[in-house]
Amino acid sequence: MDVIAHISDLHVGGEFFSERLAKNLIKYLSSLRPDIVVVTGDITDYGYVHEYERAVDLLSSLECSKLIVVPGNHDARNLGYMVFEEAFGTRYPFLEYDGVCIQGVDSSEPDIDDGHIGRLAYEIVRQNLNKCKGLKIVALHHHLVPIPWTGRERNIPFDAGDFLYLLSTLNVGMVLSGHKHVPWLWNLNNTLILHAGTATTLRLKAGIHPSINVIHVNERQVKVIRVSMDTLEERMIFQRPLPNEVSAPLLGTQDGHARIRVKRQATLRVAGALPK
Ligand SMILES: [Fe+2]
Ligand SMILES: [Fe+2]
Repeated sequence: MDVIAHISDLHVGGEFFSERLAKNLIKYLSSLRPDIVVVTGDITDYGYVHEYERAVDLLSSLECSKLIVVPGNHDARNLGYMVFEEAFGTRYPFLEYDGVCIQGVDSSEPDIDDGHIGRLAYEIVRQNLNKCKGLKIVALHHHLVPIPWTGRERNIPFDAGDFLYLLSTLNVGMVLSGHKHVPWLWNLNNTLILHAGTATTLRLKAGIHPSINVIHVNERQVKVIRVSMDTLEERMIFQRPLPNEVSAPLLGTQDGHARIRVKRQATLRVAGALPK
């Protein structure tokens, strides 16, 4: 059994960062002792060096065997994406551990809040996940699918549709994201799209609690528990048997797309010489 803690949006150094919630997070993970902690971005508020130093201190104090971190839009501000690489080595971390593969992806763009993954990153994801057996997980900051109770939709990655399609062809079982500070879960074509709320900031919309997700995986099933960082109360939100399979309709679309061919001969003419 693997236990994965999914935490997000710490916003260390920000006006609404809560030391009380941070203590609760450390306390909860000390008793849980997860195998892996996945952090889906916005670990800082403005990407400043002093914020990164405090964020690294906090993450270092979390009890776990493996830690995997991706940057969020706040971390990429003020050249923060460079500090992120100094602190964590890469913006595209990859981890294979005890039957689970996790690919981290940087969906941020410096100094804007919008998300973008980009086709070069698709190759990294494809190469790493193609060779994996077991449960495949992708972690990125921005949400690939809209989330309820977040107002007017914005910041969704420009290429969310293409990226979701890539993940479906790779048989990715789970996508972990943050950004909106609203925890949510979609089950889309057998891929679980799991959003974590914020763990340690009071940047909260009305009625939403700070929280983390805890994922329990074994060879037979996956189970997701949401934990309030206010009260440390646990609530099971999802349970499903493994393995999951790629759905047929998407593969059908791929077949249709492959039939498109560009006619190279005799169809392009110089302007002015077009046939009537
Ligand atoms: Fe955030
Ligand atoms: Fe964000």
